[in-house]
Amino acid sequence: MANILTVYFSLKGQTIAPGMKIVNLKKGNTAVVAEYIQKAVGGDLFEIETVKTYIKDHMKMIYEAKEEQKKGIRPELRVFPDSIEEYDTVFVGTPNWWNELPMPVVAFLEHFDWKGKKISPFVTSEGSGVGSMVDQIRKICQGAEIKEALSIRGSEAEVSESRIDSWTKIKI
Ligand SMILES: Cc1cc2nc3c(=O)[nH]c(=O)nc-3n(C[C@H](O)[C@H](O)[C@H](O)COP(=O)(O)O)c2cc1C
Repeated sequence: MANILTVYFSLKGQTIAPGMKIVNLKKGNTAVVAEYIQKAVGGDLFEIETVKTYIKDHMKMIYEAKEEQKKGIRPELRVFPDSIEEYDTVFVGTPNWWNELPMPVVAFLEHFDWKGKKISPFVTSEGSGVGSMVDQIRKICQGAEIKEALSIRGSEAEVSESRIDSWTKIKI
């Protein structure tokens, strides 16, 4: 189905797992969920990538991210899709960063006109869920219909395919 886009932001490398354990991910949690969604619904898959590289050390990186959010810095993105006009439904995937959208996701969303689109947000976190991210999406994407968000615990992303699959079925 060419009128569906799944877009996501996700970091590989160090992340925090249950028990405050630092683990090294080959693929980010949100990327895992995004791929399951695209497998279920078809359409196009797009990864939001920044020009800058975030600090590798997770415990330092979280403060880099917080600073960016506090100052409202929009990091430069590598590339945007030429247009989102052809898509009716857009699945927007993001990790929870301090209960807010990562600034790369803000930068991506602000780039487009979302009027008339259906947006299904999906979030991975280590327990806080969607935080204020759905409200942020609603504010930025004026005129879009925002569907109920899917919240997945990052460390359970790999084993959540059937839950993700069922969620996509009620969203379209
Ligand atoms: C900067 C930063 C802030 C985070 N803040 C929270 C938080 O407030 N609540 C939470 O449950 N998880 C938080 N996390 C954990 C991530 O949301 C979680 O590990 C997510 O699955 C990471 O997705 P990714 O692997 O696709 O980047 C944070 C992670 C980072 C890097």
